[in-house]
Formats: sequence, structure tokens, C-alpha cells
Amino acid sequence: MTGLKILVVGSGGREHALAWSLSRSPQVGQVFVAPGNGGTEWAANPNAKGLQPCAKSKNVPIAAENIVELMAFAQREKIDLTVVGPEVPLSMGIVDQFQAAGLRVFGPTQAAARLEASKAFAKDFMKQHSIPTAEYGVFAEFEVARQFVHDFGRPVVVKADGLAAGKGVIVCDTVEEAEDALRRILIDKEFGAAGETVVIEERLEGEEISNLMFADGKQIVAMPTARDHKRAYDGDQGPNTGGMGAYAYTHVSNEFEIAEENYDRVTRPTIDGLQQAGTPYIGVLYAGLMITPDGPKVLEFNCRFGDPETQVILPLLQTDLVDILNACIDGKLTSNLVYEKYEERTAATVVLAAPGYPGSYPKGLPISGLKNITDENVIVFHAGTTQKDGQLVTNGGRVLNVTAVGSTLDEALQRAYAAIEHIHFDGMHYRKDIGRTGVKQHDR
Ligand code: AMP
Ligand code: GLY
Repeated sequence: MTGLKILVVGSGGREHALAWSLSRSPQVGQVFVAPGNGGTEWAANPNAKGLQPCAKSKNVPIAAENIVELMAFAQREKIDLTVVGPEVPLSMGIVDQFQAAGLRVFGPTQAAARLEASKAFAKDFMKQHSIPTAEYGVFAEFEVARQFVHDFGRPVVVKADGLAAGKGVIVCDTVEEAEDALRRILIDKEFGAAGETVVIEERLEGEEISNLMFADGKQIVAMPTARDHKRAYDGDQGPNTGGMGAYAYTHVSNEFEIAEENYDRVTRPTIDGLQQAGTPYIGVLYAGLMITPDGPKVLEFNCRFGDPETQVILPLLQTDLVDILNACIDGKLTSNLVYEKYEERTAATVVLAAPGYPGSYPKGLPISGLKNITDENVIVFHAGTTQKDGQLVTNGGRVLNVTAVGSTLDEALQRAYAAIEHIHFDGMHYRKDIGRTGVKQHDR
């Protein structure tokens, strides 16, 4: 076999999108995904058209947190490049361990990944480097924290310090809600060790955007800004979810302005600060921003590709992802690597969720109709699926990410929603209004 061997670590829609994008590199011969899902295996397709994958992909039954087994696999298979999707193995030091074993790996070290793994670390870092973010305090004692909330006098957000699978953030309307959140985290230990300390911060108002960037330790290149839809139901109603859909553009002027302002005020000082601290940031840095009347403020840093943002960003990429990731690792990142074959395009993804999600939901529901989607501008990334006795079935809350590209957002959305008409599983639900505010704001 010729071509590079790539290992993608993780099992969600983000990892399917990564495996898919890497398979389209002319340098790649084989992709492995550990552990992968029901959509991350395919045969080689040298004559790929539209959004089809190209090099073959295969699942490897090793959990994303099993660093010892992942390293053994990478050594045995002589993997040329490992790309880590989720935050947990990054915060466990998978990159440090792969590097120590002489294995090539894309992602931040454990020290750099603290920007996501500890919200208190991230807040202190931002304060030290004058990076705009919500006012805050860090507490380990319930009574002291409670007093802070009472004295603060404005609505707050209570956050468990450590990684809590996206559930450790509680946006509060009242003092009573904030007290309840503090009790759950600090006294009831709902998030275990991740909640030994809490960050209490000012509740910001505004529009949220996801600004992801590639970083090589010194240089940064921003990806197109993306917007996620976190609430479960149309009109931003209902409970928070891991994300019900997203969209991104390669060119909308005000998005560029936001990205530029963000570069000067947020991204540049972050990368410089980490370099000065002796823990340079190599990987994808994801700034979750609130666009407030005073400009962008950081809600959170993530140390990895976003999910579902990756599913709309990578289909817009016209250059070779392998080149970009290698340039990051080698400290040779340039914006040409990302934007050379620049073209104005947009991408949207709609998440098809299991009945009951984001509450409890059944698994194992048969999925049908994917083969009837013939539009080359559409790609369905799998998130919570698996193959069982030759049948594709649901295996999670967010099941499929139906993704389309177009020259306008409206076109991308029409293609995605038309493809959804072909897909069925019992109790499937999805938002009908993904991207609608974007169409109003940006499509002209
Ligand atoms: P995080 O994991 O810190 O991004 O928080 C998850 C979600 O909580 C964010 O996407 C926001 O919607 C919301 N959030 C976090 N921090 C704040 C804040 N300071 N003000 C308002 N909303 C927030
Ligand atoms: N889209 C939110 C995240 O990836 O954390």
C-alpha cells in the first residue's frame, strides 16, 4: 500500500469529518479511526466526486482514552500521523506520551490543554494577559462562594473547574439558582473531582460565535468562524444540548472583522502568553466568544476541534488538511496552507437526534434511507451510530450530522434539509430553523 497511514482518535461526528477530510488528501493511503462509529469505515474510492471520501477508512476497537493501546497500535501499524479529536485524551497527556515514544501526533500537550481542562487556569491566564472575558472569582468553599454571588448583584454563570463532558456549566437567572448550582457542584459533588473548585462569572449577553484556529506554537491561522445552535428546539427554545446544527462561511465581511478583532485582542496574546510560559500551543485552539457591545469576550477555550463546528468547517477547506497539520507540528504554519485555493462558499449541518435527546433516549433503532441521498453537495457525518449485524442503528443522542455545501447559506440549508427527507429512524427529531438567522444576516 502506498500513501500515509493516519490514525484519528475519537468516535463522534467531528472524528468522522476529520477522517473524511484526511481521506481526501492525495498523500493519504489509509485512515484508521479509534474507536470510530457506524459511518467511519469505507472502501477506497480513487474516483471520488463532490464530497465523497477517497482513501479507505477502518475502525479500530480501542477507546479514545486508552493511550497505552493507541500507542501500541500506532507503533505496530507504523502510523505516520495521529490526530486527536476529544479533550479527555488531550488532557490526559496523549500528545506528550506519543511524542516521547517518537510518534507524530497533532494536538496540544497536557500543559497547553489546561486552557480547556481547567477553567480556573484559563480565567487566571486571561486576566494575566488582559484578554477580554467575563469578570469572575474562583472558589473551593461553599460559604465563600455563596457570599460572592450575593455581593455580586448581577446574574452569574457557575462552572465546575474541570472537564464535565459539557455539563459543568450552569447559567443562572437568580441568586437561588446560583446557590443551588454551587451546592450541586461543591457539596453534592455532582461532577466529582472536576468540581472541587468552581468558577463564578458574570453572565454575558450577546451573540455567540466559535472561532477556531490552527496554531504551530507561534503562528496562528483562523478557520472560518462558525455558529453552533445549542438549544434543542426551534427558536432557541428548550434545554441545552451538545449542538443541534451549525454553519460557517469562508467569506462574510463582518465575520472577518470579528475574527480580526479577536486576533488582536484574544488569539495573539493567548498564543504569545503560552509560548512565554514555556508551554507553546500546537494544535487547534477554539475560542468560544460572546460578541458583546464592548467587543468579543471569551466564554471558554477548547483545546481541540469543535463538534459540530468541524463538520461545517472542513467541507469548506480547499487545501490539504495533512499539510496544515504537519506544518503546525513542524512550526511552519502559513495562511496560504489554509486559504490558498480560496473560494466563497458556505456549509451547514443539521443534527438528527434520537427520541428523548437531550434527556434519556433508546439505542439500537434501525436507520434507513442514507443510500438514497445522491446529491454530491451533501455528506452525512455519523455521530451516534453503529453497525449491528449488517444494519446501521442508532447508538447515541446525536445520531447523524447531515451536512451540505452551497454558494449561499440558503442553498446549503436547502440541500441539507432535502437530504433529510430520505432518512428515517423511529422518533428522529431535528431543528427546522438551523442557519435561519444567518440567512437573514448574511445571504444577499
Ligand atoms: P462553556 O462550556 O464555558 O462554553 O459554557 C457553555 C455555554 O454556556 C456557552 O456556550 C454559553 O452559551 C454559556 N455560557 C458560558 N459562560 C457564559 C457567560 N459568562 N455568560 C453567558 N453565557 C455563558
Ligand atoms: N460546539 C461546542 C464544542 O465543541 O465544545
